[in-house]
Amino acid sequence: MNNIEIIRQLETEQTADRASLVQLLDTLTQDEEELLRQRAQQTAQARFGSKIYIRGLIEISSYCKNDCFYCGIRRSNRNAVRYRLSAEQIVSSCDRGYALGFRTFVLQGGEDPYYTDERMCAVVREIKRRYPDCAVTLSLGERSAESLQRLWEAGADRYLLRHETAGKAHYERLHPPEMSYDNRVATLRLLKRIGYQTGAGFMVGSPYQTAENLADDLLFIKDLRPQMCGIGPFVPHSDTCFRDVPHGSLRTTLILLSVLRLMNPNILLPATTALGTIDARGREKGILHGANVVMPNLSPQEHRRDYSLYDNKICTGEEAAECLQCLKMRMRSIGYEITTDRGDYHE
Ligand code: 5AD
Ligand code: FES
Repeated sequence: MNNIEIIRQLETEQTADRASLVQLLDTLTQDEEELLRQRAQQTAQARFGSKIYIRGLIEISSYCKNDCFYCGIRRSNRNAVRYRLSAEQIVSSCDRGYALGFRTFVLQGGEDPYYTDERMCAVVREIKRRYPDCAVTLSLGERSAESLQRLWEAGADRYLLRHETAGKAHYERLHPPEMSYDNRVATLRLLKRIGYQTGAGFMVGSPYQTAENLADDLLFIKDLRPQMCGIGPFVPHSDTCFRDVPHGSLRTTLILLSVLRLMNPNILLPATTALGTIDARGREKGILHGANVVMPNLSPQEHRRDYSLYDNKICTGEEAAECLQCLKMRMRSIGYEITTDRGDYHE
């Protein structure tokens, strides 16, 4: 099959085999890429119109017990500045967010044992008590089945846990031996079974990654059928062993966004901060390639700089209101409007 035929197949059958996906990633020409982009943008517009969903991101802790080789807040990074938000700080970030129009709050952090089930459930319950019309999304890494169940019962609606890479051997080159690919995948399946709207996702251009790995990521998403998929370029952090690895390619990330959109027409697909970090208009380009979500930062300003997963992260100097304004303007500049709709997944 030639690339045009593969694009048509992605449109009509919402899938393609591994070899075709690898071929697409390796050999797409500029013209073919533009066709793919248009199809992906049309697919998104047919479902979401020119509406872009917003999620208020609250980075609750820079402590992490994990040691992922690529990440700036890995536990062995002595230079990382550690902070954690109190329950009051988290809830007041939601208060500010609600007033600005946010109806989804994403509580994200390193794997920080301080946030026991008891503490975390209390926070979730308080947010849901104050704002029953809002969705609470958690992004707290791998937790036990019991813990995830308790958080669900406390009222959490969604959970983000990127699989990072669908190649087990690749996963093992990016993580220390105590981390397990199988547990990652099992946790994702469990999240879905419990009832969470679940987000998986992967980095583009992470060290040692091949086109075959990326094809496997696409097929993994197709098989798992998560409601959300977060992808962004790998960006090196100067305190990690991957400091000299170049960041992931803008073009490859955009192509993957488009392919993901065609393979999963209803999926919620953010134009991520990492994409905005490697290109001044990266998030706009992401939307034009089929993404339909942006995640402005709602974290208290004094800690922004310290949630440093990779170098040169954008939005570390801005207030929540400024980020929202900035994104409103950016979306408007490409003919899209931010909506305050909760933005749940629909088949
Ligand atoms: N570059 C890009 N993304 C990163 N993440 C962690 N470190 C980096 C990095 N150096 C992503 C991971 C994680 C998410 C919270 O941030 O995919 O799941
Ligand atoms: Fe944060 Fe633009 S989105 S400053």
